[in-house]
Amino acid sequence: MSFGNMPIANAFLEKSQFSTEYFFELAPGFCETCNMFQIIEQPNPEIMFHENYAFFSSTSKKMKSHFETMAMHYEKNFIKSDDPFIVEIGCNDGIFLEYFSKKGVQHVGVEPSQNVASVAQKKGIKVKNSFFNEETAIEIKKSYGKADIICASNVICHIPDLHTIARGVKYLLKDEGAFIFEDPYLLDMVEKTSYDQIYDEHVYIFSIQSVINAFKQHELDLFHVEKQDTHGGSMRYYLCHSNTQPIQDSVKHFLLKEKNKGTHLLGTYHAFKTLCEQKKNNLLILLEKLKKEGKRVVGYAATSKSTTVLNYCGINSNLLEYISDTTPIKQDKYSPGMHIPIKSYETFQQDNPDYAVLFAWNHATEIFEKERSFTEKGGKWIVFVPEVEIIE
Ligand code: TMP
Repeated sequence: MSFGNMPIANAFLEKSQFSTEYFFELAPGFCETCNMFQIIEQPNPEIMFHENYAFFSSTSKKMKSHFETMAMHYEKNFIKSDDPFIVEIGCNDGIFLEYFSKKGVQHVGVEPSQNVASVAQKKGIKVKNSFFNEETAIEIKKSYGKADIICASNVICHIPDLHTIARGVKYLLKDEGAFIFEDPYLLDMVEKTSYDQIYDEHVYIFSIQSVINAFKQHELDLFHVEKQDTHGGSMRYYLCHSNTQPIQDSVKHFLLKEKNKGTHLLGTYHAFKTLCEQKKNNLLILLEKLKKEGKRVVGYAATSKSTTVLNYCGINSNLLEYISDTTPIKQDKYSPGMHIPIKSYETFQQDNPDYAVLFAWNHATEIFEKERSFTEKGGKWIVFVPEVEIIE
């Protein structure tokens, strides 16, 4: 299945860069043998993660509290030694590790994007500015010893070479340690037809079955899973060295759910693509109707996911005047591919558009609450997950 030519989701650009913009074919595939759902053409990670990476984890209040709860949960349940050591793969601006850093717990974050890594370093977090792989694991062990916890959030699905991750984890994790990561969940994507989860950084959209298959080759067992409501529906995976932990019922429970939904069958993804086409048409029909009626429509939050929606549907500044976003590095630039102007959040607050398309639909509760004045002034939200609709 193909979503057509796509730019890099987080590559917000200046006008002068339009002519040299990088595109690739966004075409996911599914393997009925290993059950992996993944994009076939994978842009080189250096094109996506660098000193100008545009995604800062701490932009959402909800995510800050999510990471604090996560840190307390790991501290209570997975720290067993007196002198623990925690490794986070892809620590971004330190949103998770700051909890442990403040408590003086030995830690290191591995982060390839220098700009977000610097923000973490300024908070006092120890950061190794590189990609995580087998070599990085060897270096970390030399400096700090083995880890009690190796964790990652919205990162493992970004890394094309899962084998180097698995080998690194296998090498660096203490015998009784836990490798814990969370990523957007395939079952949610299928159930909500949230095709905007598919973009360059999401090389994989994992299911329980695909995680089991990928890591058992490296003698790492999936022993527990926990459903998360972040990023539009995620799953947290707990792995250990083979045969060191009993496999909990949670794994069986979600495997059954996956089977019932047919996430192990190719036909499910053919049906998914048909639903994506329907949603694309519904969104375009709505935006074109509003344009004919002379309504002003803007976008709210220039998320990475919005790049897939805008480019797949072919929505440009004829249909969407601008997109507002709170991240300074995105502001006064243009959206990847469709070149819609990105404006500051203040622009949206002072403006009075008739409609705002909610691209950060995964933060809907937080945003609807925060933006009461928009609806009080008569503004209406447009959402497209799970269905295209106007919220009065
Ligand atoms: P994400 O969906 O990939 O987490 O991207 C979040 C983007 O949305 C990020 O650029 C910040 C932006 N954003 C806003 O502009 N306003 C908001 O209220 C929230 C929660 C996010």
